[in-house]
Amino acid sequence: MMRHLSALSCAILLAAAPAFGQSQIAPTPPMGWNSWNHFAEHVTDADVRSAADMMVSTGMRDAGYIYVNVDDTWQGKRDAQGVLHPNERFPDMKGLGDYIHSKGLKFGIYSSPGAKTCGGYEGSLGHEAQDAKMYAEWGVDFLKYDLCSFWDNRHQATAEHTNDPNAARDVMIAAYKKMGDALKATGRPILYSLCQYGVDQPWKWGPGVGAQMWRTTDDIDDTYGRMIAIGFSQAGLSKYAGPGRWNDPDMLEVGNGKMTTDEYKTHMSLWVILAAPLLAGNDLSKMTDIDKSILMNKDAIAIDQDPLGKQGDRLYQSADLDVWTKPLSNGRVAVGLFNRSWGERDVSVDLAEIGYNNGANLHDVWSQKDLGRRSDVFTATVPRHGVALLIVSK
Ligand code: GLA
Repeated sequence: MMRHLSALSCAILLAAAPAFGQSQIAPTPPMGWNSWNHFAEHVTDADVRSAADMMVSTGMRDAGYIYVNVDDTWQGKRDAQGVLHPNERFPDMKGLGDYIHSKGLKFGIYSSPGAKTCGGYEGSLGHEAQDAKMYAEWGVDFLKYDLCSFWDNRHQATAEHTNDPNAARDVMIAAYKKMGDALKATGRPILYSLCQYGVDQPWKWGPGVGAQMWRTTDDIDDTYGRMIAIGFSQAGLSKYAGPGRWNDPDMLEVGNGKMTTDEYKTHMSLWVILAAPLLAGNDLSKMTDIDKSILMNKDAIAIDQDPLGKQGDRLYQSADLDVWTKPLSNGRVAVGLFNRSWGERDVSVDLAEIGYNNGANLHDVWSQKDLGRRSDVFTATVPRHGVALLIVSK
């Protein structure tokens, strides 16, 4: 009898425990597409449905890009019961979610802990549980939660607690935890993505509020200067990442047209070495073969998605050159040799310094060529603003 009882109570406990854990929601960095970088505040239901179609027809889905995320500006008004309705550009959110799911993709949405989003639309302040429940009913799989007007609440907390230097941080963390708890309470695995521009080191408290990823910087744009300022500022953050917890240096600009091919290769190389979430932000209907070859390079994606789940970090930097490494499974290492200068440069890595005392096999990710066995120092001639991305193995 006792044995039966304990088996039964175990079964109840197991049933009561959530069917998912943080690392199960995002065991590797999330991949997908987000509406903001291209469509911004003009996005419509039709744009998102056709993006879902093109995720399939371009091969993006099969390359691993699974989430289709509607960013800011889908919201309409709250009714007398506090229920938030979408605006006229999004007539049927449940239908949109069903459509995205019918393509073998996942549905992402956006809100703010503040009263207003960054675009001035309705935020979730005071309606967290109600909104989370509605997202779950719509079949939402991903929430980006953007600080925006909650800056005002931070300022207010500072003004009200003049003796507490942490008041603004604490009120913000509590707001993010409130939504994290509300998402968990829905029982649906919803990936929780924090967007508060890296203020107060979210890599230290993000997992505690139930998040799987958190922005580490202010917004990216489609320029080489901004992209490298963000990417190379990530040095030192690798120890905070791992399965279920990812640093997010913002979405990809590859394919948006204002960087050169070498600059976009640098963008992709840096992001995969950083084990960054890969959220494409381009117009999928205008993807060139070059955009496709960058976003869907199998080896680059495999570096990002490596099951070891380690973020890479800087090995070396000089005025113009940067060398970064990322540990991979099976004793392999990814190496990025970056040239930030205006002319061609030789960039080198000492194979012994990265753990290969007896030489190593080198594979070049962008040329898709095996470079054979090398020993001592390997040098690549790298074009201006370009990169050599290597997979090194014993
Ligand atoms: C902020 C975020 C962006 C985007 C916009 C939308 O700037 O950082 O990624 O979501 O808001 O308004």
